[in-house]
Amino acid sequence: MADERLDSGEFWKRCIAETIDSGEPAKWRDSVFSSEKPLAMEFLGALAGGAEVLDFGCGLGRNALALAERGFDVYVCDVADAGVRYCEERAAADDFTLRAVGYDGHEIELPNRSVDGILAWSCLDHVTLDWARELAEELTRVARLGAHLLVSFDEDRSDDPDSEAEVLGDGTHRYFSGRRKGMLFRPYTNDEIRSLFETGWELLMWEGEDESVPRRALFRRVE
Ligand SMILES: C[S@@+](CC[C@H](N)C(=O)[O-])C[C@H]1O[C@@H](n2cnc3c(N)ncnc32)[C@H](O)[C@@H]1O
Repeated sequence: MADERLDSGEFWKRCIAETIDSGEPAKWRDSVFSSEKPLAMEFLGALAGGAEVLDFGCGLGRNALALAERGFDVYVCDVADAGVRYCEERAAADDFTLRAVGYDGHEIELPNRSVDGILAWSCLDHVTLDWARELAEELTRVARLGAHLLVSFDEDRSDDPDSEAEVLGDGTHRYFSGRRKGMLFRPYTNDEIRSLFETGWELLMWEGEDESVPRRALFRRVE
């Protein structure tokens, strides 16, 4: 990477390690499937029994575990290894298996067209725009024809006065102080989200009006 300040992996490693050390907060237990969001339900309904699903940017694994509990064959990856290990251990304690796949922040160690479903929840907005485009291509590469992709992009939450950020040329906020120090966050317009997946994906469902709220989208791999 040309500019190592743009590698936010250290931030996430620290954030996830601190979350684990503090005892898992309740909010990390609820998955995106627990509140029966229409898009999440549609995603589940589109997957055949035993489908192979990748939770990309899995964090502490709340969503991966919920998918494994429903009988799917779940792969996990994240820039923060501690999160991947943590969710693997939690799965093992509950007699489920999650499969950690190698990932260096850019390449996912899965063959072309190898998964039926991909979840990328609140993670593609934590890299720069070019990086997100590269990752969208990587997700496209590993998706089978007909695969479903569920993505979420958060609204701008620059609400912590102690966390100051510089805004980079592509609109990415790079935090340099406060508890977000080291974090990247890029607020997305609706068009920008759609354009990340304009090649090879058909948009099936959309939630969220504009940048002031989280935007969620469900796509299907069509070519
Ligand atoms: C807000 S958390 C969401 C975690 C999880 N998806 C969830 O919904 O609970 C953002 C996640 O994105 C991950 N992340 C940050 N940069 C990433 C990258 N370049 N590639 C993959 N994951 C990344 C972080 O490590 C973190 O787990």
